[in-house]
Amino acid sequence: MNDILPQESHLWQELEAAARSIFGTYSFSEIRVPVVEKTELFCRSIGETTDIVEKEMYTFEDKSGNSLTLRPEGTAPVMRSFIQNKLYSLDPVAKLYYLGPMFRYERPQKGRYRQFHQIGAEVIGLDDPKIDAQVLAMLVHYFSAVGIEDVELQINSLGCRDCRPGYRKILIDFLQTRLDSLCEDCRRRYQSNPLRVLDCKVPGCKDATMEAPSVLDHLCNGCADHFSEVQTHLQTLNLPYRVNARMVRGLDYYTKTTFEMVTNRLGSQNAVAAGGRYDGLVRDLDGPDLPGIGFAMGLERLVLMKGDSSEPPGGPELFLCGIGDRPSNTAFMIMSALQKNMIRAEMDYQGKSLKAQMRRANKLGAAMVLIIGDEELTRGSAQLKNMADGSQQSLVLEAAIPELLKLLRPNRG
Ligand code: HAM
Repeated sequence: MNDILPQESHLWQELEAAARSIFGTYSFSEIRVPVVEKTELFCRSIGETTDIVEKEMYTFEDKSGNSLTLRPEGTAPVMRSFIQNKLYSLDPVAKLYYLGPMFRYERPQKGRYRQFHQIGAEVIGLDDPKIDAQVLAMLVHYFSAVGIEDVELQINSLGCRDCRPGYRKILIDFLQTRLDSLCEDCRRRYQSNPLRVLDCKVPGCKDATMEAPSVLDHLCNGCADHFSEVQTHLQTLNLPYRVNARMVRGLDYYTKTTFEMVTNRLGSQNAVAAGGRYDGLVRDLDGPDLPGIGFAMGLERLVLMKGDSSEPPGGPELFLCGIGDRPSNTAFMIMSALQKNMIRAEMDYQGKSLKAQMRRANKLGAAMVLIIGDEELTRGSAQLKNMADGSQQSLVLEAAIPELLKLLRPNRG
């Protein structure tokens, strides 16, 4: 679990602000849900045999003996809230986004943490393939807007409740013939969660499943048509993608379209964003029978990818040096007035010498410095110094605030 320090928080703010603005353009509204939920919610939605539920949840009993869990992801809580608050009675189509911390007890490494942050988006109530394409278009739009390159959109279809059981059986039969080559984990789970074996990173498992039957060859007509229409729309929108039939997801609720934004810049943590359709989930959680699709991006991974390419915010526009008690009070008064006008202003509060104050102004990267000493105060003036070119000018103290506003915000009415 990491602290997000002032040196990097501007990057987080930038990534969050871009999500709010872009998702808003696509008619998404923010929803905020608690970070804890009843454990049962995640077991029912993510699936009992997934890594998340089997071994990664932070689960505890509260004082009344309820089993609670720190949310490992956002989709299930958002669906819980959608159902509990009957949002469907206001509008059966909902476009929601959320951001915040998620918790998984995973083995930490670069790009993988125990408290991490997601920005997620969900569309409930629409099953048109155009929506799948639009959600992907929004995701690609986001990546290009925040300047993250080197990501590839990969898509797949995992079929539906009608065709997946048939594929599962065919896959289990295939895996049974290769058991000797599978790792211990895969030998244990090939019956309960055979699709995960396709995703195993162990080289032996990769080789053994090279010729595994493809899910795309076993889709029912409805799922095959849906997948093909999604691709037609992606092509119409000029969105490059690659079909990856081996892409499976670590959560059980997916149906039909699944996707990941993949990079090779983060080692084995290659998915910067991931999601898919979950048409049976709302009904499974005792809500109405409404389809859904969405994704979540890992903020830490976005930050790692964006990293050094982002400029930190500038220092103060004006640093006020008040030398001595009275000048310092005048500086304080001017500074407060400027701040009220949204000018980034700062001063010294420790009665330091002019030299020390100038050093601090420099360190903070101040663009201008206003120097007020006892002598200046008596004369009713102050010296304004431009830190970039060293030029100085005198300001009449009485008119200092409007003069500074004019100088620092020349275009403001
Ligand atoms: P997920 O694939 O488990 O899907 O997570 C989505 C993204 O969250 C990942 O691609 C990754 O960027 C980030 N992430 C996951 N675990 C960690 C971790 N331990 N440390 C850092 N980043 C991590 C979901 O969570 C689904 N709820 C996505 C979704 C929304 N599907 C439909 N709607």
